[in-house]
Parts: sequence; C-alpha cells; structure tokens
Amino acid sequence: MKRALLLIGAVLLSTNAFADSHGHDDLEKLMKGFKTEFKAAADAKSVDEMKSAIMKFDHLVAEAKKGDYPAKEAPTFEQGFDKLAAALDKVEMSLDKGDLKQAKEDMRSVDDVRKEFHKKLK
Ligand code: HEM
Repeated sequence: MKRALLLIGAVLLSTNAFADSHGHDDLEKLMKGFKTEFKAAADAKSVDEMKSAIMKFDHLVAEAKKGDYPAKEAPTFEQGFDKLAAALDKVEMSLDKGDLKQAKEDMRSVDDVRKEFHKKLK
C-alpha cells in the first residue's frame, strides 16, 4: 500500500512537472542554461571546448523554440530564438574552420540578440 501511494505520488509529481514544462519556471531554467553555455563558450580555451558549449547552447535554443508562449508575444519569442540559432550557427562555422579567435568575436552577435530581445520582451 505504501509503495502504491509512493508510486501515485511520483506520478502526480511528474505530471505536474510536465504541466509546468513550458511555463515561467521552465523559461527561467532555459535562460540560466543559456547563460551557463554563453559563459562556457566565451571562456573556452580550445575549439573543441567552445564547440561543446555551442552545441549545448543550440540544444537549449531548440528546446526553447518548442515552448508555448503567450499569443501576443509568441512571434517575438520565435523570432528571437531563430536569430539566436542563426548567430550560434555563425560561431559554429568559425569553429569548423578552427578559428577560435573569430568564433569569440562572433559571440558579440549572440550577445546582441540577447540584448535586443530582453529589451523587446521586458
Ligand atoms: C545569449 C542569449 C541569452 C542569455 C544568456 C539569456 C539569459 C537570461 C537570463 C540569465 C535571464 C534571467 C533569468 C532568471 O534568473 O530569472 C533571462 C530572462 C529572460 N530572457 Fe533571456 N537570455 C538570452 C536570450 C534570450 C532571447 C533570445 C529571448 C527571447 C526570444 C529571451 C527572453 C527572456 C525573457 C522573456 C526573460 C524573462 C524571464 C522571466 O520572466 O523570468 N532571452 N535571460
């Protein structure tokens, strides 16, 4: 009986987590992830290290794109995540050429997207 209750509890908890998966908490988590990978990319000491951070960043952006956003803001979110993905693609192209210095310079455009959309969605 205790086991069954525990099991039901676990299911309820996970259902709740699922219901919240595209809510405000989730956006906050994604943004914290963006920040972590941005920093990891900016601080990377090698092409491989930076590539790994950019790939993780890319996955988080793909995750963010799947989220549900308030109808009024949804197009802005979509545009922002698309712009972010495009900026990350440029960084990746520099890394594919083995150009760590250029890739670091490309991070400026990634940061510009952050500034632009934080301003738009304030
Ligand atoms: C380099 C890119 C980005 C980084 C590093 C970043 C990072 C962050 C951080 C650290 C926060 C504060 C989260 C918290 O602790 O509450 C935040 C908030 C937010 N960001 Fe970003 N962000 C980026 C790009 C974007 C883009 C492209 C969008 C929209 C398309 C966006 C939308 C938002 C919104 C709406 C909030 C407020 C969320 C809330 O109310 O908690 N961000 N971001």
